[in-house]
Amino acid sequence: MSKLIIKGKQRLGGKVSVQGAKNSALPILAATVLTRGESLIFNCPVLSDVEASVGILRYLGCVISREGATLVINADGICRSDIPDGLMRKMRSSIVFLGAVLARTGSARLSFPGGCEIGPRPIDIHLCALREMGAVIKEKHGYLDCTAPEGLKGCKISLSFPSVGATEDIMLAAVLAHGTTTITNAAREPEISDLADYLNKCGAKIYGAGEGVIVIDGVGSLNGACHTIIPDRIAAATLMSCAAVTGSRIALTDVVGSHLASVIPAFEEAGCTVLCQNGEIDFRAPQRLDSMRIIRTMPYPGFPTDAQAPLMTAACVAKGTTVFIENIFENRYRHTSELVRMGANIRTEGKFAVVEGVEALYGAAVEATDLRGAAALVAAGLCAEQNTEISGVKYLERGYENLELTLSALGADIKKI
Ligand code: UD1
Repeated sequence: MSKLIIKGKQRLGGKVSVQGAKNSALPILAATVLTRGESLIFNCPVLSDVEASVGILRYLGCVISREGATLVINADGICRSDIPDGLMRKMRSSIVFLGAVLARTGSARLSFPGGCEIGPRPIDIHLCALREMGAVIKEKHGYLDCTAPEGLKGCKISLSFPSVGATEDIMLAAVLAHGTTTITNAAREPEISDLADYLNKCGAKIYGAGEGVIVIDGVGSLNGACHTIIPDRIAAATLMSCAAVTGSRIALTDVVGSHLASVIPAFEEAGCTVLCQNGEIDFRAPQRLDSMRIIRTMPYPGFPTDAQAPLMTAACVAKGTTVFIENIFENRYRHTSELVRMGANIRTEGKFAVVEGVEALYGAAVEATDLRGAAALVAAGLCAEQNTEISGVKYLERGYENLELTLSALGADIKKI
């Protein structure tokens, strides 16, 4: 099992490019199931979650090759509609394969998905919507058995919560369904628009992605297409946190500033200068950060829950008190006890975390238990006095492409052993 060893207190500097978005790549890979012919997916990050998706696609019968950041996928040979437990458990977002496999083959048999331990992650919204579209779903012995005896039919679906995964699953089921599907209270994340852009290039008719109402006119078939994955806004926020806690100036290339519109003001409140133009961010942190007062996670365009943990590290070393309110996931404060081991002053109660900034964090042996919590610990290690040893690196590898190499290139003293 690998570990990260970080010698803290090194100032960062220089320019790095931001990886492609994990949360776009995963649904887009699932979407290739719906297509005939070849798709070229550019800017596809090398991550264990992406490899898990590739494993599922290969099992289903797709032919896939990777050249650098490009995945070439041909789904002509799809010959199965089941996904074994071992492949499903590798990541939570494997549930987006449900809509795609059902639409492509008329049936789907898959076990309940796995993923990071950030609280209960039910799939009731996905299942309810697919049933409204005509799917018959039986839940037995940890498996979902789904069929669409009369095909999937477009309908009006109103989501009780703008779930990202459910919006994607419905889009995937609806693009080849009979008639028109209208999703109200749809998720508005940029990754939803990216999925729609890919599918529309393949011949789908999706309107309004990125807004609260998405309309999908079903079509008869989809071709493959070339598509470039959008930059990863959470990876960008994480790198900014790393620069913030080390009082550094860095430049990020390949970013979309508007996707970070709720994150940048938090850094500015902390005293950072963030200049964003032409797909680049020039980020400058002060010697000591100010507190950010209140950070509330919300569905997009609100502050992203995925950036909560990395920003919390910044709050840990800021002057004053920052209050976090986590509105999206229960149990998303598992990193706090490890930050406390490093000298942070954090109290949590339910969805609240009160962080009183301290002068310094101290290196310690800590353990990551989820992806973004792991990123928070890396940022903490970068600013801590002496050495930090982080285990649970497999969580980091779900979502960050060689983060240790990126940070080393910026001047951090970090290595994986
Ligand atoms: C996606 C992202 C994840 C991000 C999250 C919220 C991917 C691969 N992952 O996860 O990084 O943190 O959006 O921005 O894109 N819920 C239900 N029933 C459902 C579905 C969801 O109750 O059927 C609840 C969840 O338990 C959670 C909330 O809704 O509390 C948000 O979940 P959702 O938006 O679906 O997140 P994911 O798609 O799992």
